[in-house]
Amino acid sequence: MESSTLRSMYAYCEQWSHPESEILHQLERDTFLNTPTPQMLSGKLQGRMLSFLSQLKRPHLALDIGGFTGYSARCIAEGLSAGGTVHSIEITDDYEHIRRRNLDGDPIAENIVWHHADAIECISKLDHPWDFVFVDAAKSQYPAILKLLEPRMKAGALLVADNVLWYGKVLSEPMDAETKAVHLFNQQLHDSPAWQTIVLPVRDGWSLSVRR
Ligand SMILES: C[S@@+](CC[C@H](N)C(=O)[O-])C[C@H]1O[C@@H](n2cnc3c(N)ncnc32)[C@H](O)[C@@H]1O
Repeated sequence: MESSTLRSMYAYCEQWSHPESEILHQLERDTFLNTPTPQMLSGKLQGRMLSFLSQLKRPHLALDIGGFTGYSARCIAEGLSAGGTVHSIEITDDYEHIRRRNLDGDPIAENIVWHHADAIECISKLDHPWDFVFVDAAKSQYPAILKLLEPRMKAGALLVADNVLWYGKVLSEPMDAETKAVHLFNQQLHDSPAWQTIVLPVRDGWSLSVRR
């Protein structure tokens, strides 16, 4: 499909989906104006999907891996059950000022705990079991993250992973190291009896997996 047609289709989908809140709109705008890699942010459509899934799931303990400026964590927090918490892990503090000036004082973001840490190290130390997880950090870590998460997610928990098509690079050989890691992650989810998975061609590829 022509990329201009695809762009128009995405614009149409955004137009006819309910909008994000003003606070998320401002956070996205600030991220685009003031970071060198704003395309890392989930964006309206993916953000609304995270919020929607979280509202269906009503998690008590949610995990956001790859926090960036806080957008995905804030979307997931919209669906928390009463007393629920999102833990968001981000390795660098480069984006903290953007997250803070947009989300400090926001009542929904008060339910997010921000961790400045490496994902693998942090997941090993945090509370569990998780009932909602969004994986969106270093692609090379996806297989190791999955191994850590599998025993830390309860039956019925939802695992959402971004970039599982990795710009289409999973489709052809030879694969570079990051692509191999993403492909292995997809294989692990497919082959393990612990998961029921669906892979979707949304943006750069999303997979949704339910812990059996
Ligand atoms: C694609 S961005 C996340 C976007 C965010 N989920 C959103 O929707 O706005 C990936 C983030 O993962 C962070 N990251 C990379 N390696 C990491 C690691 N080992 N542990 C934690 N965060 C990491 C990067 O610094 C970057 O901010």
